[in-house]
Amino acid sequence: MTETRPMGFDTLAIHAGAHPDPATGARQVPIYQTTAYVFKDADHAARLFNLQEVGYIYSRLTNPTVGALAERVAALEGGAGAVCCSSGHAAQIMALFPLMGPGCNVVASTRLYGGTIQQFSNTIRKFGWSAKFVDFDDAAAIEAAIDDNTRAIFCETIANPGGVITDLDLVAGVANKAGLPLIVDNTTATPYLCKPIEHGATLVVHSATKYLTGNGTVTGGVVVDSGKFDWSASGKFPSLAAPEPAYHGLNFHAALGGMAFTFHSIAVGLRDLGMTMNPQGAHYTLMGIETLGLRMQRHIENARKVAEWLEADPRVDVVTYAGLASSPYHDRVARIVPKGAGALFTFGVKGGYEACVKLVDNLKLFSHVANLGDTRSLIIHPASTTHRQLPPDQQVRAGAAPNVVRVSIGIEDAADIIADLDQALAKATA
Ligand SMILES: Cc1ncc(COP(=O)(O)O)c(C=O)c1O
Repeated sequence: MTETRPMGFDTLAIHAGAHPDPATGARQVPIYQTTAYVFKDADHAARLFNLQEVGYIYSRLTNPTVGALAERVAALEGGAGAVCCSSGHAAQIMALFPLMGPGCNVVASTRLYGGTIQQFSNTIRKFGWSAKFVDFDDAAAIEAAIDDNTRAIFCETIANPGGVITDLDLVAGVANKAGLPLIVDNTTATPYLCKPIEHGATLVVHSATKYLTGNGTVTGGVVVDSGKFDWSASGKFPSLAAPEPAYHGLNFHAALGGMAFTFHSIAVGLRDLGMTMNPQGAHYTLMGIETLGLRMQRHIENARKVAEWLEADPRVDVVTYAGLASSPYHDRVARIVPKGAGALFTFGVKGGYEACVKLVDNLKLFSHVANLGDTRSLIIHPASTTHRQLPPDQQVRAGAAPNVVRVSIGIEDAADIIADLDQALAKATA
């Protein structure tokens, strides 16, 4: 891999981070199922602990299999470095951890995965952090929400559950003007459809649980750092740009420049929070990523066919797929996700709550699960599951009204996906 010519997405998806194993020549990335690594001598150990030499100490911090995955996702996203975590939710905490402190806030989009709204509304308060939710279509509203204690702006490229496309250029413009890092959850788009760093994102987070692994076998997360943010400029990020008491006074930005965030996340974040990805999970995700481009092509092709079929069906109320000309977000597709608007969207069923419940119960090919981004087509009725605790008005605001189901369109034959929906809609609306 000494070529200087930039390699294409599908080549990187197979080769980035992977080298024949130096000990055995194994071509595939082995699962290094080990907790610790033998130091060559005391000087070698000291150099590793001082971050003067990059190497392996203990698998809570670094592991060769997990490191290969971090390198691969960083390459695909066009980032300087990455850190893998135990889940997508862990990745979100790991992204915020070096930026925030007690009293600090994150300004976040109202259109986010429900679990993230919960994590940001309640759980992060235990750290003394808070979140302000605003409509990210409205630049003035984002600007108005930013205050002296804001340390990050957070959104999803293709927002779960509605498949709404965020105008990353607009949001990055606001973040840049305010001198704040933009964190983008790129789970539902994947770097195949969008590279948020090219639109101005500072950090990209992933639930590797979804399309990156692609077959519903792993819970994992990744944070990618663009390496471009000036952590020293504002004095607001002391963990990265002032002597860090948690790492014997090291100023990470001064010492490591564009790799400051990545090294802090490993040396302090993983060391002390321990949200580490396991090597087996990393191995499965590496396998999954090898076919990411091929899978995403089929996902978006199928999603477009299914969305068009649903929109034309009289038993269906509304289809939120941004790839449809009727979507208010359609004009963003060409700029933000030019290859396609993803494969996650919602649709309304005539007959409301009862019809939705009958629909999920009568589908045969679709699986009724709380997941997305699998090769299999998946469905969930948020109002009777993930959003059932919310009052109806909040369900509507979250895009999860009682008459709405969310689908994650798989890579089966489109005709079979449509036939399954057709037979189940007939029973649900009879
Ligand atoms: C967009 C998005 N981000 C983050 C997460 C959280 O990921 P995980 O379940 O791996 O913690 C999810 C989970 O559904 C998600 O859909």
